[in-house]
Amino acid sequence: MPLTTRTTRKLRSQAWWDNADNPGMTALYLERFLNYGLTPAELRSGRPIIGIAQTGSDLVPCNRHHLALADRVKAGIRDGGGIPFEFPVHPLQETGKRPTAALDRNLAYLGLVEVLYGYPLDGVVLTTGCDKTTPACLTAAATVNIPAIVLSGGPMLNGYHHGDRVGASGSGLVIWQSRRLLAAGEIDPDEFMERVTASAPSIGHCNTMGTALSMNSLAEALGMSLPGCAAIPAPYRTRSQMAYETGRRAVAIVHEDLTPRKIMTRQAFENAIVVASAIAASTNVPIHINAIARHVGVALSNQDWQRVGADIPVLTNVAPAGEFLGEDFYRAGGVPAVMWSLLTAGLLHGDALTVSGRTVAENLENAPPVDPAVIRPLHEPVAARGGLFVMSGNLFDSAIMKISVITDEFRARYLPHPGGPAVFELRAVVFDGPEDYHARIGDPGLGIDEDCILVMRYAGPIGYPGSAEVVNMEVPVALLEKGVTALPTLGDGRQSGTSDAPSILNASPEAAVGGNLAILRTGDRLRVDMENARVDVLLSAEEIAERWARYTPPPLEHQTPWQEIYRSTVGQLDSGGCLELAVSYQDLVHTKGIPRDSH
Ligand code: FES
Ligand code: MG
Repeated sequence: MPLTTRTTRKLRSQAWWDNADNPGMTALYLERFLNYGLTPAELRSGRPIIGIAQTGSDLVPCNRHHLALADRVKAGIRDGGGIPFEFPVHPLQETGKRPTAALDRNLAYLGLVEVLYGYPLDGVVLTTGCDKTTPACLTAAATVNIPAIVLSGGPMLNGYHHGDRVGASGSGLVIWQSRRLLAAGEIDPDEFMERVTASAPSIGHCNTMGTALSMNSLAEALGMSLPGCAAIPAPYRTRSQMAYETGRRAVAIVHEDLTPRKIMTRQAFENAIVVASAIAASTNVPIHINAIARHVGVALSNQDWQRVGADIPVLTNVAPAGEFLGEDFYRAGGVPAVMWSLLTAGLLHGDALTVSGRTVAENLENAPPVDPAVIRPLHEPVAARGGLFVMSGNLFDSAIMKISVITDEFRARYLPHPGGPAVFELRAVVFDGPEDYHARIGDPGLGIDEDCILVMRYAGPIGYPGSAEVVNMEVPVALLEKGVTALPTLGDGRQSGTSDAPSILNASPEAAVGGNLAILRTGDRLRVDMENARVDVLLSAEEIAERWARYTPPPLEHQTPWQEIYRSTVGQLDSGGCLELAVSYQDLVHTKGIPRDSH
């Protein structure tokens, strides 16, 4: 990569290091950064100061190797002519954070906005990996709008158990599968533990196409990382080399003033939606991508996802939609290979600018797929349609269903008459949160059978709080024994990005803010109309009104100050689950200038 020529533009950091109007403050700002060996000459040389937003720590094992990769990033920044400053980001680990890491995405966002805006930073390397780390970093960079580049941590190596691939996915795939085997008596608890742990054989984030690999792939599709960045497995040498190149490029984008708002345009988001379908991305990604779009000033809705993405085929044969894992995805060409196929078919905006300084089409000049078993050609897809089905009705205004879960088995069970009306009815069995579900799912009195839909409510952003991955509910053991492995589910929470269940999820508005899910009762009949994308409870408007008149909302208990602050300003999942108050803050470096001096 050639060295970029320096800008003559005055850098933001010089307001700290070189402020002629206030030499006293300049001395004060400088002295503390010298105490570990930096020199005044370095800091005042006009070289860009590049932050490294460090998301790895002992609390975030999925991203922990970013602590080591940062050395290569720093070497790249130095060789590119910049000065690196590494700093921590609020930890965001998907499986370890209670009640859910989703609550903290916006907390990390807020913290990162303050850091990027309030310190002498000219650009930033965003280290991403575990599910919420990518959207937290990208929403913050979008709000502040300093030049930013994503460095993914990369997936773990493939996991194997008795020679079979087993995929790690946080709360995901191997767990669902192993639970079914355990429930069916095919494995014992020791083997259960062995299978689950075998799925995570190395450093890195989950190696299935769960939320982590999906979001990192979409950061690349948006143009925010260097081409090929997302899929490189965490332990590979190419990952460290990518860290170095990303560091070098971070300096260049400051000289070029290549900001997130120049890259994350409507075209870029449409590219991301198309790629999301082609990789069969997690159902969490519309939430995060819509949030990033709002913070960067692009109006994007679930309708855009259906319009742009619904007819795009699934190309990646990667779990949970397919058979392979992250390492295979990388060897097959990764995101560039997928994008090359899509671009060749005219399905991408090739002229969208990326952080490499080149367009999508230019980035992809040498990137055809190399392994059609893992990344299928368009005429032989894994599934004909990979997008989202956006539903509405008298229970909610918006919810999503993955089109790929509407399998032949699903059709055979619910839509057995080809050409007939695509409508069926189900009996609702309602649970108020996962504790209620676990306590009662085995109760034979619920009479759960093939014609039921399991409903999870009070699991949305305000109800949970944060919105939990609890809508993908397992069927009772008694049904498993009869060979029924999944039932349709519906809820105002989310589901794991690796769940393969036919779920209608992310229902907005949620029960806790007055969505009609709140007055649903076990035994109510729901009509699902696949033709018109509706779910309706078969109750009269009078009955609904009467139930509301007698409704007492369950108390919302805040356990921490942040939970209370979050609940006071968070929006619904269909609009990204953003802090509504924050969305009006756009492009801080250009609309707000430099913050006041600290003394
Ligand atoms: Fe962190 Fe999956 S749990 S990447
Ligand atoms: Mg998850």
